[in-house]
Amino acid sequence: MKKYQLYATMGAGFESVVAKELNKLGYETKTENGRVFFEGTQEDIVKTNLWLRSADRIKILLKEFKALDFDSLYNEIYAYDWAQLLPVDAKFPVQGRTVRSKLHSEPDVQSITKKAIVDKLVSQYHRRGFLPESGSQYPLDIHIYKNLARISLDTTGQSLFKRGYRVEHGGAPMKENFAAGLLELTPYNGTHPLIDPMTGSGTLAIEAALIAKNIAPGTWRKFAFDEFDWFDTKLHPELVDEAKNQVRELEAPIWASDIDQSVLEIAKLNAHNAGVLQDIRFKQVAVKDFKTDLENGIVIANPPYGKRLKDRESAEALYKQMGEVFLPMENFSQYYLTADPNFEKFFGKKATKKRKLFNGNLRVDFYQYWANRK
Ligand SMILES: C[S@@+](CC[C@H](N)C(=O)[O-])C[C@H]1O[C@@H](n2cnc3c(N)ncnc32)[C@H](O)[C@@H]1O
Repeated sequence: MKKYQLYATMGAGFESVVAKELNKLGYETKTENGRVFFEGTQEDIVKTNLWLRSADRIKILLKEFKALDFDSLYNEIYAYDWAQLLPVDAKFPVQGRTVRSKLHSEPDVQSITKKAIVDKLVSQYHRRGFLPESGSQYPLDIHIYKNLARISLDTTGQSLFKRGYRVEHGGAPMKENFAAGLLELTPYNGTHPLIDPMTGSGTLAIEAALIAKNIAPGTWRKFAFDEFDWFDTKLHPELVDEAKNQVRELEAPIWASDIDQSVLEIAKLNAHNAGVLQDIRFKQVAVKDFKTDLENGIVIANPPYGKRLKDRESAEALYKQMGEVFLPMENFSQYYLTADPNFEKFFGKKATKKRKLFNGNLRVDFYQYWANRK
């Protein structure tokens, strides 16, 4: 079976989390900034798209080379056997990105790459300078970093954070793969209770339920590889069936509350779409009134963060309430994500560990308070 050079992409700071997920799935990995490389067959492409929780995309590395000028870029791209990858009617959008390289104009890198592929296909298919691009889509990208060019085929399509269970609404929910990545930075594996007391649209609680029940996060969606004409069409439905047979019962409760009943309705709809509505206890309750008789679990939350001074003051008052309510729960490990650099001061305790992350473009800290468990 043909082996491909593959890599997963992810948000900054999640490389080790994705590498760990790949290792658990049985792959040997090599990590770079923003990428984790591994090797695999078409079956592995399906498996990783289906199962990786915190990655963005899985790509096939087609070729890498030094690109110091436009001639070498054109020639190296032209030299690849494009007809073996792209049928005559393939749609193949090319994205270009360059970082710290001699070839620094992204539009030029993109258009020269596209031109070299078109010229090669025209000659390989004996066409007269015209390709219809009316068929299936093969998303390509050329990425040049410190003059090393890599041309890749995206097997995922829409980023893996789009699981397919989320209903759109006006709020700013956390991305699903980001929520899963945060959970993977904790020891959570479904054997202990989990509480999100500011659940919003429920992303953390739903991703926790998927982890606890061993539900593959890609179960509901299609991928770019579904359109590739050389891809074995049996693999995707086979692996989805296999994944469905691996679903487990929930062992420990998952609690999701929020002060706002209207966001809880959205959270419930999302949980329903993900098939985990019965696994999460949703309740409208304000932090100050929060009580639990659960023990030895995890509290995880993404409390509001105020950009404007007035909002910041009310967020900080909430962090103080959080300290009063959650700090006495000493046998819970607690994890809070916020962009407020003064979180610890208002919460009332210095974190055991702080991890710098980016939630979209927002620089945030993941404040971790590890429990003293006997
Ligand atoms: C940043 S959002 C959480 C987003 C969530 N992680 C998601 O993916 O949708 C913060 C949430 O905290 C809730 N909240 C604000 N003040 C609260 C309070 N005093 N008690 C409980 N929840 C509160 C808001 O209603 C909002 O849904």
